Parts: sequence; structure tokens; C-alpha cells
Amino acid sequence: MTAASFAGSQANAVAEASCLNQDRRDPERSNPARNRPTSQSPFPKNVHFMSSTSEWSTPQWLFDTLNVEFHFTLDPCATPGNAKCPNYFTLKEDGLSQDWGRNTVFMNPPYGRAISRWMRKAYESARQGATVVCLVPARTDTNWWHQFAIKGEVRFLKGRIRFGDARNTAPFPSAVVVFRGVET
Ligand SMILES: C[S@@+](CC[C@H](N)C(=O)[O-])C[C@H]1O[C@@H](n2cnc3c(N)ncnc32)[C@H](O)[C@@H]1O
Repeated sequence: MTAASFAGSQANAVAEASCLNQDRRDPERSNPARNRPTSQSPFPKNVHFMSSTSEWSTPQWLFDTLNVEFHFTLDPCATPGNAKCPNYFTLKEDGLSQDWGRNTVFMNPPYGRAISRWMRKAYESARQGATVVCLVPARTDTNWWHQFAIKGEVRFLKGRIRFGDARNTAPFPSAVVVFRGVET
């Protein structure tokens, strides 16, 4: 495992770019009221475990920055409206049950309990030759983090990202986990 806090890596550009575009304050610390669901905030209190966030899209700048490095060929969890690659799977096709082959995969999975299955799929797909780059909450206290994420290259994002067209940044930190394809 290699763990980095983004210093001195390509991903550092991601972190720096994120700082340029984000409110540096921690919204939970600076104003706890912002962690309550309001008509203006799409982030309810227990957002970490809620499936209502599952359509939230990767910020285009973050995808673009990673795409310069990886050249993605598959988005396995998407809708026609939010797919980040021309080649994608939707819920109907069920990206989890598809073969990701030797694609270079960008995976921003549905958050909630299913994330564990997506991380297993990412890890196992890399063992079969795919390279999978995962954008996930930096939930270092979870089983899926210890079972899968730490086996990849972990890049912690500085600051918090703003998903889709949300007004506020997410109330949780994010990380990019890279599972490099194993030569088979
Ligand atoms: C967090 S969003 C990411 C959207 C987009 N790929 C992006 O990066 O901006 C997760 C997406 O996965 C889709 N999804 C949920 N379950 C899925 C499944 N079993 N197979 C494929 N896509 C699924 C959801 O509809 C949602 O659009």
C-alpha cells in the first residue's frame, strides 16, 4: 500500500485545485447548524449512510485532472446524464455484475452500504487486469476501507469537494484510491 496526503504527486494538483474552488472552513466545525438538512442544503445529517446522495456527480474539474493522468475508458456506475465516459453502465445494466475487463475505470460509487460491494469489485477487477480509480469518502473507520482501500494507493483530498451542483461542500472528506491493474 502506498498512502499519500497528496504531497509531491500528480494528485497534489487535484488537491490544490480543490482548494482554489472550495470554502476552506470546515462547515461542521465552524457552524454545526450547516450539518442539518435544510431546504438549501442537499446534505442531510447522516449523509454518510444515506442512499439519497447516490446521484451526486463527481466535480468535472476533479475528473478532468485525474483523466489527464489515467485516460479513463469506463464509468461503471452512472446514468446517461452523469456518465463521465462514453462507455458506462447504469443501474439497469448493473455495473457490479459486469466484467470490467482491462479498462481504465473511474468509479464514483453510490454511497451508502453498497459501497463495500463496489470497493470489492474494484479491487477484484484490478486483480484481473483493470486499473480502477475510486472516488470515495475517506471513511477510514469502516470495514471496506480496511479490507480494500488500504490495498490501493490512497490519496487524501485536501478540503472537501462539492458534488454535482450542490451549494455546499460535502460534510465528509474524500479520498482517491487507485487499484493498478495486475498483469495477468
Ligand atoms: C455517485 S454517482 C456517480 C455518477 C457519475 N459516475 C460521476 O462520477 O459523476 C453513482 C451512480 O451510480 C449509479 N448506480 C447505482 N447503482 C448502480 C449499479 N448497480 N450499476 C451501475 N450504476 C449504478 C447511480 O444511478 C448513480 O448515477
